[in-house]
Amino acid sequence: MNTVIREISTTDAGIAGHLAYEAFKSSADAHRFPLDFPSPEAGQEFAGLWINHPSIYGVAAEVAGRFVGSNFLTEQDPIRGVGPITVAPAIQASGIGRKLMEAVIERGKGAPGIRLVQDAFNTISMSLYASLGFEAREPLALMSGRPAGTVPEGITVRRMTDSDLAEAEALCVRVHRFPRTGELKDAVRGLQPFVAIRGGRMVGYASSVPMWQLNHGVAETEGDLCALLTGAGQQLNDPVSFLLPVRQAGLHRWALRSGFRMVKPMTLMTMGEYCEPRGAWFPSVLY
Ligand SMILES: CC(C)(COP(=O)(O)OP(=O)(O)OC[C@H]1O[C@@H](n2cnc3c(N)ncnc32)[C@H](O)[C@@H]1OP(=O)(O)O)[C@@H](O)C(=O)NCCC(=O)NCCS
Repeated sequence: MNTVIREISTTDAGIAGHLAYEAFKSSADAHRFPLDFPSPEAGQEFAGLWINHPSIYGVAAEVAGRFVGSNFLTEQDPIRGVGPITVAPAIQASGIGRKLMEAVIERGKGAPGIRLVQDAFNTISMSLYASLGFEAREPLALMSGRPAGTVPEGITVRRMTDSDLAEAEALCVRVHRFPRTGELKDAVRGLQPFVAIRGGRMVGYASSVPMWQLNHGVAETEGDLCALLTGAGQQLNDPVSFLLPVRQAGLHRWALRSGFRMVKPMTLMTMGEYCEPRGAWFPSVLY
């Protein structure tokens, strides 16, 4: 099969979003998990945002002139994030996903690292990414709920603003050794990021509390992270959702005690530099 890989363009948003809906639906339905994109329109809205973002690189796959798949690489920050990758269900398992992955790996080869999060039940994607050189780092549990309990005295939880970005960057670097300030700038503009303040300084942040796909967080301690999510949950109408790295056993037990329910298992996979985080944290769907 003659597959052409090319840069994605704005005019592809309709078909790319529709295929993202169909491809993820085929995988979720097969395993009876909820849909990541609940409708074709949700897929198209996402595709429009991602394709038009100045710091997100996208590729399209074509067979005989027909659009059959896409993949993306976020480039706002030093660590690159892959996804979502989609191949039309009728044409999966014929090598197109591998080509789409190779294209973004080539694009990201100058970066210190490339990372992604995959559905742990997806035997195809885990095998594909591992064979390309990605290493499984963390088992994750997607958790969703409205945390019960109260924020401990001495901690304040409030919305993040532009003036928090420098302190948030420093905290992220302390935990992960890499900044994610490009993403945080997007979050402050259109998402619902929160910070936790203790002793007059920032001890935690979460970048998009109700939307797990875009929600990454860091904190000095597990207690700070629990307080942050509890306080944010009290100020929002929507449930809190985040990808809990289950090796943080205390955080896991707290989430279950607080009323969170597990939605599905996922895996953080990385290529290139990786340091064990120093503090409490959770990744977005990118890393
Ligand atoms: C995941 C996805 C992008 C992969 O694309 P694809 O075109 O089907 O994949 P490819 O055919 O290029 O590659 C799959 C590879 O996995 C291997 N593979 C598949 N099932 C496997 C299994 N159970 N065990 C081991 N290897 C397996 C195949 O042999 C192939 O490897 P090869 O290139 O060495 O032959 C595609 O299936 C898809 O769109 N799925 C729905 C959306 C989705 O789940 N996206 C990813 C979210 S994590």
